[in-house]
Amino acid sequence: MTASVQSIPKPVTIPTLSTSACPASTTCWVGLTSNRLYLLEGAPGAGKTTIALQFLLEGARLKESVLYVTLSETEQELMGVARSHRWNMEGIEVRDAAFPGHVATGRAIHDVPASEVELSRQLGIEILADVDVIKPTRIVFDSLSELRLLAGSSLRYRRQILALKQFFAGRQCTVLLLDDMTAMEHDLQVQSIAHAVLRLEQMSSDYGVARRRLVVTKYRGRQFRGGYHDYKINRGGLQVFPRLVAAEHVEPDLRAPADIASGIDALDDLLGGGIDRGTSTLFVGAPGTGKSTLAMQFAIAAARRGERSAAFVFDESIGTVRARCRSMGMDLAPYLASGLITIRQVDPAELSPVNSFMRYARPSPQAGHRS
Ligand SMILES: Nc1ncnc2c1ncn2[C@@H]1O[C@H](COP(=O)(O)OP(=O)(O)O)[C@@H](O)[C@H]1O
Ligand SMILES: [Mg+2]
Repeated sequence: MTASVQSIPKPVTIPTLSTSACPASTTCWVGLTSNRLYLLEGAPGAGKTTIALQFLLEGARLKESVLYVTLSETEQELMGVARSHRWNMEGIEVRDAAFPGHVATGRAIHDVPASEVELSRQLGIEILADVDVIKPTRIVFDSLSELRLLAGSSLRYRRQILALKQFFAGRQCTVLLLDDMTAMEHDLQVQSIAHAVLRLEQMSSDYGVARRRLVVTKYRGRQFRGGYHDYKINRGGLQVFPRLVAAEHVEPDLRAPADIASGIDALDDLLGGGIDRGTSTLFVGAPGTGKSTLAMQFAIAAARRGERSAAFVFDESIGTVRARCRSMGMDLAPYLASGLITIRQVDPAELSPVNSFMRYARPSPQAGHRS
């Protein structure tokens, strides 16, 4: 019974992926159930090491004992990554298993239980002997491709991962396995063993920045937001933009029918009072027919009523928009200064759709944007 009480796990958080990044009341990613084994997979450069370091940094911040086992990068390279993000690695133990000579177990070999020696020998790394000394509550193995190569056959590899899971099961430790998917064929051995699987992808298109996205492909006993979530890697770590669900963004007051007038009487008469609040209206016309000017007219009319508007311009500079409005007798300056009108220039090549939405369209703490 004691075991079952102990095993009620507290979620292990990675701040960058936790609920705070999601719109209220959604569960895109709620942290990791503690004392389980997780798989984080993605091609080289996708951001696995970055997430893994953030996972351990959070543990170190909470004064937990944490261990990074690096099998492909040297400790210096890892420290270089941390420095580039300005992270303080104090409290994070690093073991460079790529160079076993560097392993310091702190224990004489006869103190190490035979089972650990055997598993370490099977895995081809001597690191496990350190685990009972360090007693980590969070551990990262970066990456599995080395273990897979050392195992030789897929059956042996699966057995070793199972043994690794078994080894940590009784040790109150959350394990993060990184896989750079460099195996010739994408096997599902570890996916089937892991408690949850998170995949990172990056795509380069013909133009613009590389698009990065992550997907939770499996999470035992947990409801999560499926589908792809965009993310960016900045200095300081990952920023995730959870997939948007339109139904979560309905504001009750928008359901009340109301007209948004343009302030041009003839046009408003023609529209039966204006365009309907809470709906989308498309202005279509050849270049130069006045679509942008008409849109700004709506924004100015709203600002005169004290309502806030946001304009996103894709193909003109903000200066051009302002100059054109000024030349037509519509001075935007006072409304821009008071914040009643916001104009953002968007370079679609630099932002992914969810990224741009999250950046610009966060609910305003003051009166909401109306048009
Ligand atoms: N300090 C930094 N600032 C911004 N982006 C960075 C920084 N460091 C790394 N990156 C980005 O993160 C990517 C590598 O992330 P990393 O976690 O090392 O990937 P992986 O472990 O999956 O190979 C780099 O290709 C780079 O685009
Ligand atoms: Mg890496």
